[in-house]
Amino acid sequence: MKPIIAGNWKMNKDPGESRSLVQTLMGLVGDVKDREIIVIPPFTSLPIVAELVRNSSIKLGAQNMHWERSGAFTGEISGLFLLALGCEYVVIGHSERRHVMGETDEVLNKKLKTALDIGLISIFCVGETEKEREQGRTEEVISRQLTNGLKDIENEVHKMILAYEPVWAIGTGKTATPQQAADVHTFIRGQLKKQSSILYGGSVKPENVDTLMVEKEINGVLVGGASLKPESFARIVKYSQ
Ligand code: 13P
Repeated sequence: MKPIIAGNWKMNKDPGESRSLVQTLMGLVGDVKDREIIVIPPFTSLPIVAELVRNSSIKLGAQNMHWERSGAFTGEISGLFLLALGCEYVVIGHSERRHVMGETDEVLNKKLKTALDIGLISIFCVGETEKEREQGRTEEVISRQLTNGLKDIENEVHKMILAYEPVWAIGTGKTATPQQAADVHTFIRGQLKKQSSILYGGSVKPENVDTLMVEKEINGVLVGGASLKPESFARIVKYSQ
């Protein structure tokens, strides 16, 4: 399996800015064949980015979706609409959805099931807060997120990607050490019924990607802030082994 380098732009980049970011990025990583590159722009930029990356090696993902296919859910987006635009991936359970928007394990389980049904590859995020880590509850929290999130679909986890994103490392500049990340990845792998790629996310930068990717338990990275600058993201894509 190719290492996966995914850039989650969060609520950044309007359509015009998205166009120039992707155009520059394509010039920098267009020749990379041995890594799976995924860009995850905000919904409003999906059409323009989809058009630009069509026929390239860059894949498209969305940051969220609703669990229903259509209906009276004002302000929500169906996974079917994402597929129609050319998305192959969708992030489910990002910590900002869990902690800022209040999404529960049960809601995330419904979303994961729908994504599976319609053929979108979920990037399912788990991770502990700083307090939970200090209390020694990292494994307990992740185990709960996995058990509840994957309820009834444990045997289909090979059709998804997992992402370990410790909340204390997101946007803080505090990266988990390669060893801390690898330890949790090993724990997650032990909880899964089938093989799945496990990405690390949380302050991944050009300066730390090489040492993180040395760990064989880390199958790729989910990058926030550093994916907004094409040069930084390209350097992360081209991490050296
Ligand atoms: P940062 O890389 O900005 O810490 O964000 C990580 C993240 O949340 C990716 O989904």
